[in-house]
Amino acid sequence: MIRMNSHYKKLKASYLFSDIAKRVSAFQEAHPEMPVIRLGIGDVTRALPEACIQALHKAVEEMASEATFRGYGPEQGYAFLREAIARNDFQSRGCAIEADEVFVSDGAKCDTGNFQELFSTDIAIALPDPVYPAYLDTNVMAGRTGVFSDGRYSGLIYLDGTKDNGFVPPVPDQPVDLIYLCYPNNPTGATATRAQLQEWVDFARAQKALILFDAAYEAFITDPAIPHSIYEIPGAREVAVEFRSFSKTAGFTGTRCAFTVVPKDCKVYDEDGAAHSLHALWNRRHCTKFNGVAYPIQKAAEAVYSPEGKAQVQAIIQGYLENASVIRNAMAALGFDCVGGDNSPYIWVDGRSDSWEFFDRLLKNAGVVCTPGAGFGRCGEGYIRISAFNSRENVDKAMARIQKALA
Ligand code: MLT
Repeated sequence: MIRMNSHYKKLKASYLFSDIAKRVSAFQEAHPEMPVIRLGIGDVTRALPEACIQALHKAVEEMASEATFRGYGPEQGYAFLREAIARNDFQSRGCAIEADEVFVSDGAKCDTGNFQELFSTDIAIALPDPVYPAYLDTNVMAGRTGVFSDGRYSGLIYLDGTKDNGFVPPVPDQPVDLIYLCYPNNPTGATATRAQLQEWVDFARAQKALILFDAAYEAFITDPAIPHSIYEIPGAREVAVEFRSFSKTAGFTGTRCAFTVVPKDCKVYDEDGAAHSLHALWNRRHCTKFNGVAYPIQKAAEAVYSPEGKAQVQAIIQGYLENASVIRNAMAALGFDCVGGDNSPYIWVDGRSDSWEFFDRLLKNAGVVCTPGAGFGRCGEGYIRISAFNSRENVDKAMARIQKALA
């Protein structure tokens, strides 16, 4: 008899964004007269940068001739892309990251979800609330939690993000082995200062713990005082893995390309306390389970770092940040407290009511899709997240509809 992984029974019936998609399709089917405007899932709407399109075409042509055709590439990514990433994203900011510490992949969601596989099932995990649900659900699937009750799984250390701490929870006062951090934050849009990140790095070093740092939204940082990478913090090379993505930066949500940085200084310990290389462990996993990102896609990602690519990406990000500012100003003018939107594409709005009820109100009365804060955890109850990923025209239209519906 084929038996299931019974930890799956602890999961909520469906993934947050699938659940929302179902509700939205049902509404759209019942109300074809009101085309919905999607400011829910953080999915980009603008076309790929021209530099990426040109690189993609050229690489596809190479695949059409036996002389330049490529089969399996290196599992970790082609050297041309790993070197461009190390140089532009890290060395240019003074971070000592080498190309062979970069692992190219098909998504930060997959990488953040897969990374936990390297660790024992009985480690102590700290994760923020509200939180990007993939970090949580993958640990539930792996059996690192007890049951779900009163909005939380037993067996985890939740780091409460609240209005009082500006949605940047402090280090816990108990031992922890693995820590999930995401800045600029999804879902709240909050950012962490250098001093706050230094506290986490110091804490992790003292505990021989590891930080999984999700920096998928770093390109939206406008404040020069805010670090873009955890490796800008002294000591981080020993205790932090960083996840990055081309999805939100260069419009690759459908194209799929991301990367994870695993410094060679990071250690992981066995049951006897002996240290092992985390880089070697991740490399072993990656080679066993992954055959690399398609060559044309890696060429398109490399083009992000060309002078034209950089300028085009900057223009796209600027457009989304302008949307974010329109959304934040409109919601604030309606009297709602907002966080984010200045160094992030997400605006976290205190709806002062049940999250799902507010979500339904915006969908039914304004035809606008947001994401209910409660879907990100107990501390998200009462909030909604509005995404700036759409055209300016749709954002203006959505804000006008919300103003009318809530007036
Ligand atoms: C989100 O809306 O939180 C993100 O788009 C989800 C993701 O990147 O997987």
